[in-house]
Amino acid sequence: MSTPMHDLDVPPLPSSDAPKVLVTGAAGFIGAWTLRALLFEGYCPVVFDLKEDRRLVADICGSDAANMLHWHTGDIRNMDQLQAAAMGTERIIHLAGMLTPGCRANPRLGAEVNLIGLLNVFAIAQTLHQKGVLYMSSAGVYGPSGAQYPSLQRCMVPLS
Ligand SMILES: NC(=O)c1ccc[n+]([C@@H]2O[C@H](COP(=O)([O-])OP(=O)(O)OC[C@H]3O[C@@H](n4cnc5c(N)ncnc54)[C@H](O)[C@@H]3O)[C@@H](O)[C@H]2O)c1
Repeated sequence: MSTPMHDLDVPPLPSSDAPKVLVTGAAGFIGAWTLRALLFEGYCPVVFDLKEDRRLVADICGSDAANMLHWHTGDIRNMDQLQAAAMGTERIIHLAGMLTPGCRANPRLGAEVNLIGLLNVFAIAQTLHQKGVLYMSSAGVYGPSGAQYPSLQRCMVPLS
């Protein structure tokens, strides 16, 4: 069995009857760690990402897992690609997205990926009668002063 970097334990490979969870953006930073956590919890993660590059996943989950996971290369804006990847999964963890620098450089693309992409995930989950969707928010909703709760007032004074 291959060893990931950083002396991490290698997560177990999923069994054939493990429940499948689609992870969008799984080739990214949080995605790769999410795959690792899912493997340890006995799930069978299914990858959906623009990137075909499995190196980060191999580093964090081990190259055996990176090579054997179902890996769908596609764009979150494309409903057909997303639905094909989601078939047979019972939940979606949605992490595919563009971070602030990319959105600043191309706001239209940022809106299509982050907003329409999220709506696509909800629509597919509804169509396939999935058990749930989990998606990432940001500490930015608490504003610059680290408030205890998000506030609608702060929405009117965006940080970026
Ligand atoms: N990293 C943070 O500190 C942080 C904080 C708050 C929220 N988030 C959110 O968490 C999510 C993941 O963040 P991350 O740090 O892992 O980012 P990341 O850039 O490492 O990963 C994002 C992944 O999404 C994929 N992606 C981008 N556009 C896509 C598209 N059109 N279709 C399919 N896949 C696409 C990228 O290829 C990448 O692998 C993002 O939505 C981000 O906004 C991150």
